[in-house]
Amino acid sequence: MSTSLTRLEMIQPDDWHLHIRDGEVMRDVLVDTARQFARAIVMPNLKPPVTTVDLANAYRERIEQQLKALGVSTFTPLMTLYLTNNTSAAEVLKAKAADVVAFKLYPAGATTNSDAGVSDLKFCHATLEAMQSVGMPLLVHGEVTDPEVDIFDREAVFIDQVLEPLRKNFPELKIVFEHITTKQAAHYVRDAQTGGKNILGATITPQHLLMNRNAIFTGGIRPHHYCLPVLKREEHRLALLEVATSGNPRFFLGTDSAPHAKGAKEAACGCAGCYSAFNALGLYAEAFESVGKLDRLEGFASFFGPDFYHLPRNTQKIVLVKSPQNIPAELPLGDATIVPLRAGETIAWSLA
Ligand code: NCD
Ligand code: ZN
Repeated sequence: MSTSLTRLEMIQPDDWHLHIRDGEVMRDVLVDTARQFARAIVMPNLKPPVTTVDLANAYRERIEQQLKALGVSTFTPLMTLYLTNNTSAAEVLKAKAADVVAFKLYPAGATTNSDAGVSDLKFCHATLEAMQSVGMPLLVHGEVTDPEVDIFDREAVFIDQVLEPLRKNFPELKIVFEHITTKQAAHYVRDAQTGGKNILGATITPQHLLMNRNAIFTGGIRPHHYCLPVLKREEHRLALLEVATSGNPRFFLGTDSAPHAKGAKEAACGCAGCYSAFNALGLYAEAFESVGKLDRLEGFASFFGPDFYHLPRNTQKIVLVKSPQNIPAELPLGDATIVPLRAGETIAWSLA
């Protein structure tokens, strides 16, 4: 990788946590991701959720058709399955054979389209055992769902109540703590003992590196800054920025770009999710530059993810330039529109 103050050449990154939905919406958002990333882990929280290999294969085919229609041949979707109380161990073996790269744990009710998620991991023992034995990663949405727990504490409580017992019961299970948002999560992943094995990782979104919870309330309520897990205090943002830029291979890029139409966000009960895909790499570059660590971006964005998943690193390169890009106020999204992160503002870095 070479860096100067205004130009950054690096191996092309991948997005290890992405929502592209389905149908017309998918067509519109896929373009933004495929422009920047070579691969992305596609989240399975569709309606209905992608719970079986057959559904994942059909979804993969729809994505590939869409890519073909768009004339994109340089992007590969990596498929995941949605874990439920009823997912069988046999489905894990079938998934392994079908190149499904991971299972996703949504605690039931934790976030968008998570109603079919797991109500208690005790129902999943045989399934988790199968995942552990074939090296199938479990991607976790790390928040408890108990309404009594303060929303800003749900991730930290998840570590004690769910993640730590899970790792004790399945010490060889590969786990990614998705879209971490707290100092507790950052330090937990940094300090966990794994016997030298590359079995614990965490993804970090651009919004959690760039904003704290004040951004939800600046001068009024800002629905486009609302995602789950929700933005936290500044001390947490700083802890995330610290680990992301530390060169520690446990932390890698996952945008969690989550498209919701403008009307579904700007509503009395607005949906959770930030649309960062339009210029996600520019946002990450800005975050890394803010602490003088642009030289660490390539590891975070392009190396540590594939290493965790035992996939080859990309070989082709991209160039980011420091040339402010105007972000449109709205973008097309099927028959509606979407408001991207930084709408109507600029991002300092963009693809050459
Ligand atoms: C995601 C979505 O909309 O699918 N929303 C979000 O706020 N991140 C779901 C998720 O990853 O939690
Ligand atoms: Zn997500």
